[in-house]
Amino acid sequence: MKFFVDTAEVSEIRSLAEAGLVDGVTTNPSLIAKSGRKMAEVIAEICAITPGPVSAEVTATEYEDMLAEGRYLREIAPNVAVKVPLTEAGLGTCRALSAEGTLVNVTLCFSAAQALLAAKAGATFISPFVGRLDDIATDGMLLIADIVKIYRNYPHIKTEVLVASIRHPIHLVEAAKLGAGVATLPPAVIRQLLKHPLTDRGLEAFLADWRKTGQSIL
Ligand code: G3P
Repeated sequence: MKFFVDTAEVSEIRSLAEAGLVDGVTTNPSLIAKSGRKMAEVIAEICAITPGPVSAEVTATEYEDMLAEGRYLREIAPNVAVKVPLTEAGLGTCRALSAEGTLVNVTLCFSAAQALLAAKAGATFISPFVGRLDDIATDGMLLIADIVKIYRNYPHIKTEVLVASIRHPIHLVEAAKLGAGVATLPPAVIRQLLKHPLTDRGLEAFLADWRKTGQSIL
């Protein structure tokens, strides 16, 4: 499973990349706004940190404008994945950009039917938002199960399921059990994946016993 980091905070991406935990990055207009930086500048900096796909989202809503924005964003760096919303104009833009060899991440997916349309439009990635479904008492992981099952019925579909809107480690584990290819995680959730109290306690005990030996390895 590939781990993407869901943030536009360069310092977070850099530290996680140094730990080998970054296979790509996803941003969205809200994350860019939160960074307080110009989109082209921060996307360029992120693309220089990781060779993996870096999602940069269009903000136009009409086809021609979306296409123009997508063609601009892809020029920022070779590893830019243009993000488009799951609308009719977004799917048209996805089809056009993917036909031109551009990576496309179709976002704001909330149904299996939408995911099927994105695959038909040639999406590189489909981003179903599990957390936002959970937020309205709808099991987001059932959507992931449906999309993975449907895509597996059609070997010609090369669209990767990029599980998004992840709120906690269980979302990640369940997505991995289902065979989703990619998960995009807030930095805090990536760090939560690492933690277990028994690991901490076990390490403390090992080191306490080691100190009693008076030895040092070097
Ligand atoms: O960036 C796409 C998605 O991961 C955002 O999720 O629900 O935390 O805003 P959310």
